[in-house]
Amino acid sequence: MTLNVALFGAGRIGKVHAASIKSDPRARLVAVTDVMEEAAQALASEHGITVRSASEILEDKSIDIILIASSTNTHADLIERGVAAGKAVFCEKPIDLDLERARRVRTSVAASGRPVMMGFNRRFDPNFSSLRTAFVAGEIGKGELLAVTSYDPAPPPVSYVKVSGGLFRDMMIHDFDMCCWLFGLPDKVTATGSCLVDPEIGAAGDIDTAVVILHYGDGRIATIRNSRRAVFGYDQRLELLGSEGMLSVENQLETTVRKSTTAGVQSAKPQLFFLERYMRAYETEWAAFVDALSNDTPMPATVQDGVNALALAEAANLSLTEGRTVTVTAQMTGQAG
Ligand SMILES: NC(=O)c1ccc[n+]([C@@H]2O[C@H](COP(=O)([O-])OP(=O)(O)OC[C@H]3O[C@@H](n4cnc5c(N)ncnc54)[C@H](O)[C@@H]3O)[C@@H](O)[C@H]2O)c1
Repeated sequence: MTLNVALFGAGRIGKVHAASIKSDPRARLVAVTDVMEEAAQALASEHGITVRSASEILEDKSIDIILIASSTNTHADLIERGVAAGKAVFCEKPIDLDLERARRVRTSVAASGRPVMMGFNRRFDPNFSSLRTAFVAGEIGKGELLAVTSYDPAPPPVSYVKVSGGLFRDMMIHDFDMCCWLFGLPDKVTATGSCLVDPEIGAAGDIDTAVVILHYGDGRIATIRNSRRAVFGYDQRLELLGSEGMLSVENQLETTVRKSTTAGVQSAKPQLFFLERYMRAYETEWAAFVDALSNDTPMPATVQDGVNALALAEAANLSLTEGRTVTVTAQMTGQAG
């Protein structure tokens, strides 16, 4: 059976998802909706589909899946409306900028019994997923130290920063998820951050450079380093030290050419940004969603995972503003009772 899909949001990431759906013979993109009529029309013409309103899509019983790639402030409502209409939902991160609201979404989704997957694309990057497979298979013994490096090539415009929810919720959310995926939920969070890249980001009340330490009850430690600027490209590395070895992922370079001369050894720069670095991950992510739907197996990135990552972002914000280590409570992740 072919699954009919409607897309919400025809922006940067919406276009990427439309391409993934198109490349999957099990699914058919049938409609798109966007508050910017022009963006919706452009995507519709490219894919030979129709532009429809959100209500038309939700009321159409022949549509099985809604893919939410619209602006963050629309996610919570659309997830709830989608599951209430009986749709399976794929939603981009984050669920919402407000943790309490995200927890309410989790409750609505659980009550609906409908499948919902969150777009934590890095889980589907072939490098990171191979690292995890080796780790889970015990190939480096017990994990002890995890180090995530995630630097953007250049800061976004300040207009974006102002509505982004801040570095921890907007950018580090992926790295929080990566740590939870590999090590589980930590007990405590310590954050520090500063504004070194663009003073306007500081003036907008945000930071552009940050380090977070995640403390685990059994002594394991994870560190995350974020910067909004790495002049050489998108820097996405990971190192996991275990009792019997280490697993690490290096950057993917623009080319594999290496020049060795008497002057030294030179290689290409890392791929520019997420659209280049994670293109394969987005495609695999979509396929994993359809696999889980078709086989009726658990979603590989759940709404609870989205709440957990947001809870860590909130803990990091609190740690930064209050200058102390913050305990992650079951209440924060909505798992208390
Ligand atoms: N997982 C990832 O790697 C990744 C990467 C980029 C963006 N994102 C997430 O995807 C979302 C979209 O980001 P983007 O970079 O594509 O932004 P964008 O601004 O390029 O696109 C968002 C689109 O949503 C549309 N929109 C706004 N309200 C809408 C509504 N009510 N219904 C339908 N469409 C609506 C906008 O008009 C715009 O065309 C954000 O939540 C962002 O956090 C995730």
